[in-house]
Amino acid sequence: MTVTRFGVSIDEKLLERFDELIGEKGYANRSEAIRDLIRDTLVAEKWEKGKDAVGSLTLVYDHHVRGVDDKLTDLQHEHYTSVIASMHAHLDEHNCMEVIIIKGKTDDIKRIADSLIASRGVKHGKLVMTTGF
Ligand code: NI
Repeated sequence: MTVTRFGVSIDEKLLERFDELIGEKGYANRSEAIRDLIRDTLVAEKWEKGKDAVGSLTLVYDHHVRGVDDKLTDLQHEHYTSVIASMHAHLDEHNCMEVIIIKGKTDDIKRIADSLIASRGVKHGKLVMTTGF
C-alpha cells in the first residue's frame, strides 16, 4: 500500500471544532480521523448502489400503544428471509427496545427499516448499515 500525503485548506474555526471532536473520540491524530471519515463516506456511498449489506435497526417504542407489538412482529415475519435476528429489552414500565438485524440489498434493508420505524408507537428508530464485510 502506497501512502499519499495531501494538504487541506480549511477554516480555522472549523478545524478547531474538528480537533475538539476527534480529541473527545480519542483519535491520536487528524490523519487517522480523516481516514475513518473517508471510509464512512465511501461505505455510505455504496448504500445507494444496491449492494449486499447488513444493518442493525434499533427501535424504541411504547408497548402500551395498541397493536404496536403485533405490527412490529408482523413486519418482521413478512420479511423473514431478510430479518435474521432480533433482541428485545424491556427498558421500563412503558418502553421497549428492539434491535433487529437485517441482511440483504441496501435498498431492501432501508425499505424494511423505514416501515418498522414508521409504525405507530415507535418513538425512535435508527438504522446502522454496513457494506464493509
Ligand atoms: Ni418490552
